[in-house]
Amino acid sequence: VSLKPYNTFGIDAKARFFVHVTSEEELVWVLEQKKYPEKLILGGGSNMLLTGDIDALVIHIGMMGKEVLEEDGKHTLIRIMAGENWHDLVLWTLERNLGGLENLSLIPGSVGSAPIQNIGAYGVELKDSFVNCEAVEVATGEKHVFSLEDCRFGYRESFFKQEGKGKFVITSVTLKLTSGEHQLRTEYGTIADELKEAGVLHPSITDISNAVIRIRQRKLPDPAVLGNSGSFFKNPVVDKGKLEEIQQKYEHVPFYSMSEKEVKIPAAWLIDTCGFKGMRLGDAGVHQHQALVLVNYGNASGGEILNLATKIQKEVRDTFGISIEPEVNIL
Ligand code: FAD
Ligand code: EPU
Repeated sequence: VSLKPYNTFGIDAKARFFVHVTSEEELVWVLEQKKYPEKLILGGGSNMLLTGDIDALVIHIGMMGKEVLEEDGKHTLIRIMAGENWHDLVLWTLERNLGGLENLSLIPGSVGSAPIQNIGAYGVELKDSFVNCEAVEVATGEKHVFSLEDCRFGYRESFFKQEGKGKFVITSVTLKLTSGEHQLRTEYGTIADELKEAGVLHPSITDISNAVIRIRQRKLPDPAVLGNSGSFFKNPVVDKGKLEEIQQKYEHVPFYSMSEKEVKIPAAWLIDTCGFKGMRLGDAGVHQHQALVLVNYGNASGGEILNLATKIQKEVRDTFGISIEPEVNIL
């Protein structure tokens, strides 16, 4: 099976074995098949770079369903099956006037993948509304429930990217959303500007969602048009001394304070400053509007994208003495 339609980078890698599962029972049955010792879990394929053909059994997650578990006038608890599309879920919550996910509008991928890297955008992360997730253990087929604490969420991090890597298949996610008064998060600079431009004085959660959608559409390439996986690298956290060193040459380097000693510097700025924005090597390129996004102009292989990524990492290290780590899962 060609995985080209199953990964947003549009890489034409092949899977030797592929199965689409639509229920937990099917999933458990598939996991029991000892003929395939290696398994790869696939959601929307929007956060992976395939660098070669896949020998493992690819399990495409397709359990569907959304349900309201509880509501008390202030909060609503919802449970969503792993195969649901994330942005469809966001729209579904907005239709019901449920708040908490509006800043996470238009993030590609499936609900079951959202906890893996604790998806985040515009000042909000999944963990802010996360209650728990259900998962099946790959080795045993046993069911587990992971609480917020168990997941050990961090910036683009979780238990599922560390010790739990490859060991569990998330089957559903439970979230707690606001249904009475919403807590609007507009502090992320560009959102406020966007609302102002649209003439919105008293924003609703839908106004915020629309503002986020507009900002994203301006900056980020649509994978249906230009293959990509969003940010290729994480934003590095460095100590203040490093920032001061950079400021001597680049007075206006952007940064966010993380603690008294540490700051986060946008990797996009580092890459941009090294001159990579809009650069192209064969069919692998650096997006013209966002230097953190690597793109496939058509027929790039995963190896070509990785080669460009390695060049970028080296240049950033040589120029700034900062190592930038991939955010995308490289397979
Ligand atoms: P996949 O790529 O299918 O899988 C990602 C990883 O999770 C793989 O390791 C896979 O094996 C594992 N996995 C998938 N499903 C499961 C499961 N059910 N159980 C266990 N493991 C599983 N991310 C952000 O955080 N913020 C953004 O703003 C953002 N913007 C993006 C913009 C664009 C244009 C693109 C293309 C991507 C963006 N991303 C962003 C990255 C991506 O949308 C998220 O990481 C998303 O959660 C990936 O979901 P997916 O279903 O496509 O995962
Ligand atoms: N910048 C440049 N050059 C560029 C692009 C940006 O210098 O080409 C500078 C600008 O100063 C800008 C700053 O970098 O202010 C930050 O850029 P942006 O607001 O676009 O955000 P980002 O840090 O590049 C992060 C996430 C995104 C998320 C946005 C919004 C990471 C790795 N990326 O990007 O997530 O949507 O913030 O919150 O944290 C993803 O994970 O795939 C993703 C797209």
